[in-house]
Amino acid sequence: MATELNHLDSDSPVIYLDHAATTPVRPEVLDAMLPYFSHAFGNPSSLYAIAGESRNAIDEARAQVAAVLNCRTSEIVFTGGGTEADNMAIKGVASTFNEPADIIVSDVEHHAVIHAAEQIERDGHHVISVPVDRYGIVNPQDVASNLGNRNAIISIMYANNEVGAINDIPEISRIAKKHAAERGTTVIVHTDAVQASGKLPLDVKSLGVDFLSLSAHKIHGPKGVGVLFARRGVKIDPLIAGGGQERQRRSGTENVPGIVGMDAALILAENERLQFCEHTRAIRDRFLAAVTERVDGVTINNHPENSLPHIAHISIPGLEGEPMLLGLDFKGICASSGSACSSATVEPSHVLLAMGMSRELAQGSLRFSFGKDSTQDDVDYTVNALAEVVTQLRGMPSMAAR
Ligand SMILES: Cc1ncc(COP(=O)(O)O)c(C=O)c1O
Repeated sequence: MATELNHLDSDSPVIYLDHAATTPVRPEVLDAMLPYFSHAFGNPSSLYAIAGESRNAIDEARAQVAAVLNCRTSEIVFTGGGTEADNMAIKGVASTFNEPADIIVSDVEHHAVIHAAEQIERDGHHVISVPVDRYGIVNPQDVASNLGNRNAIISIMYANNEVGAINDIPEISRIAKKHAAERGTTVIVHTDAVQASGKLPLDVKSLGVDFLSLSAHKIHGPKGVGVLFARRGVKIDPLIAGGGQERQRRSGTENVPGIVGMDAALILAENERLQFCEHTRAIRDRFLAAVTERVDGVTINNHPENSLPHIAHISIPGLEGEPMLLGLDFKGICASSGSACSSATVEPSHVLLAMGMSRELAQGSLRFSFGKDSTQDDVDYTVNALAEVVTQLRGMPSMAAR
């Protein structure tokens, strides 16, 4: 049941099964970052030697990230995280269009994409949201049928953050480019690959996309730093004006330790990708088999193949997620539910509703996302704990779902 978190807080060991929410910074990543908090603290834009160290570190990070993405170094923009990268791709491209454009997203995008699209709708652009199937997967034909005679930005996530559904991005890009060539329009394809990194290949040439977002903290890097791949030749306006860093695309003194951490985390995640997938798939499948056996009525929401290997998403009828999470937390287990608390109401997740799930079942949903250090013992302990929590809550009439 040991996880790396035990080293951080030995008094209250936890089984951390919420890696899709965030991950702890790996020691190797922290080591790579540390010099840039201390002796190599120079502003990369300054001319003296210590500034050169910062500049070189950024250049090296950019080259290594570009190698993972199979793109040019000039196509890498370091951002303040995945949310900023998503906003930049959508708002930054839309603002280069002279005419209103179609913004095609899916019903299950992260709020960074959905709310960015809603914002530019106020500028006259048309937002079209395409449906998903019961596993949260977009049918590329639904994207095709929504392309018209206007310029368009398509933003469809590579993998979903709640249920792990994987989309066929190469096919969506192919359809988009074919449509644009036939109609003489511009169709830009962005994908949010924040959850895909370290689990799926990130080669932007094979994916065929113009823009791709990443975030460091999902892959054992620091929070508040991300990457936007921005294809050369595709116009994009900056969201943040200032000193013109990142080739005029993202002003502000560079977050040097963050950028170094992003690079170190991405390299490790990419090098260990196959091993990570094999390990977490085995752990996840053990969890799903055991939970099916131990918890009456449980349903599994992941697609059996087309979903990220480390996410187990389940629904437990008749119960709400929050009391289950509290019960698990009491037993030292961190997981996540299928709803979000906002201003004292518990709203079921838009992703689960878009998959056709009832509000009641969505509210009784839990996400367990495993990591490289998750063990079989973690799974066995968690399934036991969950079975106990469910039995306890089912015995309390006031806890039944409303
Ligand atoms: C799919 C997806 N996109 C975007 C984000 C936002 O990334 P960040 O937390 O780096 O802003 C997240 C994080 O939860 C995510 O899961």
